[in-house]
Amino acid sequence: MAFWNRRKSLESVSARETHSALRPTLSWIHLVCLGIGGIVGTGIYTLIGVGAGLAGPAVIISFVVAGLVCACAALAYTEMSTMMPMAGSAYTYSYVALGELPAWFVGWTLILEYTVVCSVVAVGWSGYAGGFILSLGLDVPKALLAGPAAGGVINLPAIVISLAVAGLLAAGSRESATVNMILVFVKLLALATFIALAIPAFDVGNFEPFAPHGFGANEVDGAKYGMMGAAALIFFAFYGFDAVSTAAEETKNPGRDLKIGIIGSMVACTLIYMVVATAAIGSTRTDVLAASSEPLAMVLRNLEHPVAARWIGFAAIIALPTVIMAFMYGQSRIFFVMARDGLLPQRLSVVSEKSGTPVLMTMITGVIVAIMAGFLPLQRIAEVANAGTLVAFIAVAICMLVLRNKAPTAPRPFRTPAATTVAAAAIIGCAYLFNSLPSVTKTTFVIWNAIGIAVYFIYARFQSALARA
Ligand code: ALA
Repeated sequence: MAFWNRRKSLESVSARETHSALRPTLSWIHLVCLGIGGIVGTGIYTLIGVGAGLAGPAVIISFVVAGLVCACAALAYTEMSTMMPMAGSAYTYSYVALGELPAWFVGWTLILEYTVVCSVVAVGWSGYAGGFILSLGLDVPKALLAGPAAGGVINLPAIVISLAVAGLLAAGSRESATVNMILVFVKLLALATFIALAIPAFDVGNFEPFAPHGFGANEVDGAKYGMMGAAALIFFAFYGFDAVSTAAEETKNPGRDLKIGIIGSMVACTLIYMVVATAAIGSTRTDVLAASSEPLAMVLRNLEHPVAARWIGFAAIIALPTVIMAFMYGQSRIFFVMARDGLLPQRLSVVSEKSGTPVLMTMITGVIVAIMAGFLPLQRIAEVANAGTLVAFIAVAICMLVLRNKAPTAPRPFRTPAATTVAAAAIIGCAYLFNSLPSVTKTTFVIWNAIGIAVYFIYARFQSALARA
């Protein structure tokens, strides 16, 4: 079949996978926890400082903008994932709605995104781990605790955590719902502690000037300053809600619970983020926040709450690795599905009988994540991860519109309300944020995808299972 005609049928991906035998036991409360578990991570714990440096106090509005755009994309994502409860997320939806080449483009983008997100969270984790180690009085050379851009030589903690998570995944570990609930509790309790101790030091003078770099996105020395520039970075704090839609099959009342689960976790995170940001900025000047690799712990240390600062560090150390685990697992699933479709070498994603995971691919991913986390600057890699996610979200919103048109009567356990408006808001919002990223990020994204398109025409196009159909 000619490559431009290759599409998967909706029927082929509507059937539930084997785990659909699971009993529907989850309610909206569980789903909100799952969402918060995947979402709350390096974005609020670390990038809040970088965002404050880019926008000043106006970073609070950046959180709202990024949250709204993400919520629209999340609704489209939920409609698609409940219609096609097969692994592969945006790649699979694109294969059905748009065809093989767009699906390849989205899959190739997702591989980049998921891998880079793991590195970003590992670097964020390392900021807290390093601070924690030093606060215990242990004498570790700073050169080993940060990459070259952050004044060190090699970020060893980030390398260690990347490889450790890859090892756990390769051995077949998964995070259970109970562990997730406990870690969500830990993460939120740490943020609540932060708010309670930072608010008494609130000084309204810290909000002046409110938007020192303006409300747009202005590029200076390779970074986008201003409120929208910060929104394009802070967007990182909001994704990870895929966890909610993948639980669709275990939900008691999908139509209602998924809606509450996704919108609820997005609204909850947006509100929590705004309060944390208000407390952080109210108590500490944004230039001080921007200079720290563990801003929340640093604020509490400066306010003379050393024990609470150590508790925040401890909470980040035990809770953030699950975010790495979620994205590393997601990456191996995308790779696996693309290999199953013939587009990537199947040898790489052979599933081990013992652990039930693609061991080779997981270890290769772990090493790449570790190298990036060990040497690359946090802000740069977070922006690259965002570029991939923004494009994947645009693709999902387009898929929703296309399928509403092409398959209007196909069963949809969840229907996005005001679908056209929501999809348009997601597409325009994501495109705007993408455009607000620095030029070097956009160039990296284009180069990655140019390589991807070349690989498609040299390899995948001929190997595709549909080429023989
Ligand atoms: N939203 C996730 C985080 O902030 C990726 O770590």
